[in-house]
Amino acid sequence: MSIKKQTLGEFIIENQASFKYTSGELSRLINSIRLAAKVVNHEVNKAGLVDIIGAAGETNVQGEDQQKLDVYANEKFIHTLTNRNIVCGIASEEEDDFVAINSQDENNQNKYVVLIDPLDGSSNIDVNVSVGTIFSIYRRVTPLGTPVTIDDFLQKGNQQVAAGYVVYGTSTMLVYTTGHGVNGFTLNPAIGTFYLSHPDMQFPEDGKIYSVNEGNYIHFPQGVKDYIKYCQMEEGDRPYTSRYIGSLVSDFHRNMIKGGIYMYPKHSKNSNGKLRLLYECNPMAFLAEQANGKASNGHTRIMDIEPTELHQRVPFFCGSKNMVEKVEEFIKKYE
Ligand code: AHG
Ligand code: MN
Ligand code: MN
Repeated sequence: MSIKKQTLGEFIIENQASFKYTSGELSRLINSIRLAAKVVNHEVNKAGLVDIIGAAGETNVQGEDQQKLDVYANEKFIHTLTNRNIVCGIASEEEDDFVAINSQDENNQNKYVVLIDPLDGSSNIDVNVSVGTIFSIYRRVTPLGTPVTIDDFLQKGNQQVAAGYVVYGTSTMLVYTTGHGVNGFTLNPAIGTFYLSHPDMQFPEDGKIYSVNEGNYIHFPQGVKDYIKYCQMEEGDRPYTSRYIGSLVSDFHRNMIKGGIYMYPKHSKNSNGKLRLLYECNPMAFLAEQANGKASNGHTRIMDIEPTELHQRVPFFCGSKNMVEKVEEFIKKYE
């Protein structure tokens, strides 16, 4: 029996027909993300060597080097997407405002906008722990041939055409959805090719892992505190296991494979939590739902929230369906 090792490139071509709009542009867009991911991967892998080989022309202290990798990833993604003449605008965690891209084609026929968190979990860089990139793709809502506006970016998550992440971990993987399930591809670094390693990824309906920064416990709403105590209680299949990397991409990735819930609740000091709706929560919510999981702000489906600003934050509960429903149940008791 021969096992077919499908590359990401082959997969994109084979699945192009299943896209809602099949002009080939979305395929090219995902291809360019694949390319940028490889470039960023190369740099992230060298992060520990910065003190030895030096960052070109820089005499940065360590804190600044870490900061620089965020900026590097941001530049690489923006540059790659701009150069290939595919998208008309990009919004990024690293940019205050969205970046409008002037098409080389004078009619500006580029249909897509991309929203990215170029380096997620960046505080982990210093300590050789997994980090990631998150991306979300929409069709623009304003007419072709006109400048992009904020309306093109402030779309509900349920309008996403594609979303995904790259995890720069023990292996580097690109995981994405175009609304037909979730597929994961692992990079063979020797030859720079991504292979389909995790077809049709699914969250188990029930999980045994909860991921939350418990250092914030005293600030959490009572419903969330009660849920955490419920996770720790000796009963049935509990206590659950606590696992928190502090890198949404990596925590999500593990929970999708093993079954679990990721939580970033609101806080007595931060009424909307920490995570950003447009380039962290919505793309992860799209992936979660496509993988039979669930994503909520504690009350409402993440992808139904009407965005009001680019860098808006929302409380985030995401993962195995039954676990997300359980925490919603606890939250509801107090409201
Ligand atoms: P980023 O590195 O893009 O700023 O995102 C970090 C996010 C998320 O990935 C992670 O789960 C969370 O912030 C960790 O926050 P705390 O340190 O407050 O737990
Ligand atoms: Mn992030
Ligand atoms: Mn980031």
